[in-house]
Amino acid sequence: MEIKITRTECPKALPDSSTLGFGKIFTDHMFVMDYSKQEGWHDARIIPYGNLSISPACTALHYGTEIFEGLKAYRTPDGGVQLFRPIENARRMNRSAKRLCMPEIPEDDIVEAITTLVNLDRAWVPNDPGTSLYIRPFMFGNDETLGVHAVDHATFVIILSPVGSYYKEGLNPVKIMIEDEDVRAVRGGTGEAKCGGNYAASNRAGDRAEKKGYSQVLWLDGVERKYIEEVGAMNVMFKISGKVVTPALSGSILPGITRKSIIEMLKKEGTPVEERRLSVAELAQAMKDGTLEEAWGCGTAAVVSPIGELSYKGEVYIVNEGKIGELTQHLYDTLTSIQWGKAEDPFNWTVKI
Ligand code: PLP
Ligand code: COI
Repeated sequence: MEIKITRTECPKALPDSSTLGFGKIFTDHMFVMDYSKQEGWHDARIIPYGNLSISPACTALHYGTEIFEGLKAYRTPDGGVQLFRPIENARRMNRSAKRLCMPEIPEDDIVEAITTLVNLDRAWVPNDPGTSLYIRPFMFGNDETLGVHAVDHATFVIILSPVGSYYKEGLNPVKIMIEDEDVRAVRGGTGEAKCGGNYAASNRAGDRAEKKGYSQVLWLDGVERKYIEEVGAMNVMFKISGKVVTPALSGSILPGITRKSIIEMLKKEGTPVEERRLSVAELAQAMKDGTLEEAWGCGTAAVVSPIGELSYKGEVYIVNEGKIGELTQHLYDTLTSIQWGKAEDPFNWTVKI
C-alpha cells in the first residue's frame, strides 16, 4: 500500500504523563483512506490531525454505519515501541465490517497503516508506568444519501491518543452494577461486532450506574436476562472455587483480545478455565457462600481491572473484601510485563515497530 505523508507544520508540545487520563489528547497526525465501490480502497494518506469534512447526509450520522478498534503501542525498557497482537484487531475489524455490510480492508494494510502512523508519531508513546499510546482505527459509511442500504462509500481513519489509566481508580478495585433493565445486545444483533451503536445503546444504563457511584454495568443476556455477558468496555472473568469462569462467546458479546490472551495464559499455566454460560443466580450464590474468590474485567483500555463490589437488584456483594485478588494481580503483572516488553513473550504476541 502506498501511503502519502504530509507532516504537520505546527507540532504540539508533548503532554505531561500525569495529565493523560483516557482519550482526551491526540497526537500530531492521523491516517485516512477512502473507499468507493468503483475504486475500492484508495488515497491512503497520513495528514496533520484535524477535523474531517463530511456531508450532513453521510450515512454514519443517520444510520450508525460505524465500526472501530482499540489497541495500544507500548514503550519498552530499551526505548523501543511495540504493539500487542495487532493482527487480531485487524481481523476483528473485518468481522465487524462484514456484519455491518461495510468494506473489508486487507489485514496487512491495516497493520501497515497503524505501524506507519505510530512510527511517525513515535515520540508520543509515553514511558511512565502504566501509560501507553492508544490506537483507535475506525471506519464510517460515507454515502451521501438518506436511503438505507449497504455501504458503497466509506472512510477509514486512525487516530492516536497517549493514555494513562482508563478508570480513575487505576488498579484499585472498581464497583460494578449488574443491569437488569436495559440490554446491550442479543444474539443475531451486533453485540459481537465492535460498532458505535452498541455503545450508544449502553449509555443509559451506564449513566444510571454512574449516578449511583458505580464505574460500569455488567450486562445480562438480552433474551432471558439470566446469564452474565460482559462489562461496558471489558470482558469479565470470575474465580469460583479455584476455577476461572468466563461467559462463552455467545454471539452477543465482544470477542476480546485481552480475554483470549488471558485464557491462553491461564491454560499454559495449568489453571482450569471454563468458557460457558454463567447465570446471575449461580454468581449470586457463589457470592453468598463465599466460593466467588475473585472477579475482574479485562480489555485493552482497562487491561485487567479488579472488581471489588457487585450490586444486583439492590443487593450489594463485596468481592474478596474489596481488595485485588492474587490471581487478578498475577494476570495483570504477567500481561503488562509482556505488553511493556519487561518480560519474555513466550506467545509471540508483541510486534516491535
Ligand atoms: N467488551 C467490550 C464491550 C469492549 O468495548 C472491549 C474493549 O475493546 C472489550 C470487551 C475487550 O476487548 P479487547 O480485549 O479486545 O480490548
Ligand atoms: C478498548 O478497550 O479498546 C475499548 O474500546 C473500550 C472503549 C470503548 C473505551
